[in-house]
Amino acid sequence: MQIKELLKQSPSEQEVTVKGWVRTKRGQAAVTFIAINDGSTIHNIQAVAEGGAIDEETLKLVSTGACVAVTGKLIASMGSGQAVEVKAEKIVVYGTADETFPMQPKKHSMEFLREKAHLRFRTNTFGAIFRIRHALAYAVHKYYNDNGFFYLHTPIITASDAEGAGEMFHVTNFDMEKPPRAEDGSIDYSQDFFGRQTSLTVSGQLEGELGALALSKIYTFGPTFRAENSNTTRHLAEFWMIEPEVAFYELEDNMALAEDFVQYVIKYALENCAEDLAFLEKRLLEEEKSKPQNERSELSLLEKLKFVVDNKFERLTYTEAIEILLRSKPHKEKKFQYPVEWGIDLQSEHERYLVEKHFKKPVILTNYPKDIKAFYMKQDADGKTVRAMDVLFPGIGEIIGGSQREDDYEKLLARTKEVGIDPENIWWYLETRKFGSAPHSGFGLGFERLVLFVTGMTNIRDVIPFPRTPKSAEF
Ligand code: 4AD
Ligand code: MG
Repeated sequence: MQIKELLKQSPSEQEVTVKGWVRTKRGQAAVTFIAINDGSTIHNIQAVAEGGAIDEETLKLVSTGACVAVTGKLIASMGSGQAVEVKAEKIVVYGTADETFPMQPKKHSMEFLREKAHLRFRTNTFGAIFRIRHALAYAVHKYYNDNGFFYLHTPIITASDAEGAGEMFHVTNFDMEKPPRAEDGSIDYSQDFFGRQTSLTVSGQLEGELGALALSKIYTFGPTFRAENSNTTRHLAEFWMIEPEVAFYELEDNMALAEDFVQYVIKYALENCAEDLAFLEKRLLEEEKSKPQNERSELSLLEKLKFVVDNKFERLTYTEAIEILLRSKPHKEKKFQYPVEWGIDLQSEHERYLVEKHFKKPVILTNYPKDIKAFYMKQDADGKTVRAMDVLFPGIGEIIGGSQREDDYEKLLARTKEVGIDPENIWWYLETRKFGSAPHSGFGLGFERLVLFVTGMTNIRDVIPFPRTPKSAEF
């Protein structure tokens, strides 16, 4: 039985076997206390070996990090903090761990744990994070399933750059030492595996739209890849994205969906991950004690999550946001590193000012200048802006990016050419605007940014099991 279930049993001396990894062993001459964890819960179960019950040789092998099976009676615990414990009668040691086992019970830095990503699952912090990550992934599927969406699997290998940012990893089976060359010396991709140049996808959106223009409501949830050289606490080269796409939705419906969806999944975590969240909240409080008062968060982790679930997100246009920034104290006192004027791509300092200082809640910014957004967004009547929306979260910045899509064939074709995309390359995308085009909208939620927000962690590398970032693809 898993420890999570065992801890709920009432002790009536029934015989049980606990299998898991030893977190700590405390011994006196007469009794040894062994804390065992199997990852099913943040809580350990205590096994008590009374003098003579287990032979010396075996007991010696039971050390922090070892994997064991303990069989004995489930009894009421004398100790505080747990209702039951196992009175050990037999211990099988599956795998020993000597004192070089890195996850000894003491405080480790996050950097150290990242280098030991193969073993960091065995700490309380990472156990909690990955149980919460699972719960959030489940909640995502549940939300869309319960709301009539179909899960669409879009391709990972693609020949088109959905975001048009040119930040793609190439996929080839050429011998890189001597790829076939055309007469002019360029690489001849017609001889490559797919007969053309291909890459790992940056987004499933374009194919998602094709599905939505028939199934009406779809979502994708898959890995995406970006070769952007951003070495920040918010960027990964490989991350998971959830992309709903809905026929007949306009921008306002899209915003309502984004808000309802994130509130639902966060609420799901609050209701289903209470113990892990309580642990992470305590961890965060400890961590913040070392910070000066003015840098500590005003709300605890749980307060912050409840706040987001209970309050409507602020909605305003990009143009209104620029006006607020121009009137702001940091702008007047020249405290922003990047200048503010209409047309700029908002920097994270600007987004954080709006969310954390001005509105003090999640914000949805809409109608951005068309020149700083992707080619597929629906143009506004003013000819300057597009029906884009970014959802900005405290401490995170952009968590969602989306838009209403351009559904007018001529306008989309013109914009495609304007930004330098060869229409031939996405003929199939353009064709959906020729046959039964419909207003439609969608967005992408960066899954790791969501997990970051919910767990209160500060570095995105700590919420994905094995992060891929510039110069790093260990494990
Ligand atoms: O804003 P982005 O680039 O939008 C798209 O890819 C659209 N195709 C989505 C759509 O409309 N269907 O990315 C969406 C989200 C961002 O808001 C951010 O949360 C996350 O993906 N994201 C990243 N997360 C981690 N590492 C990166 N390098 C990320 N780049 C984007
Ligand atoms: Mg974006």
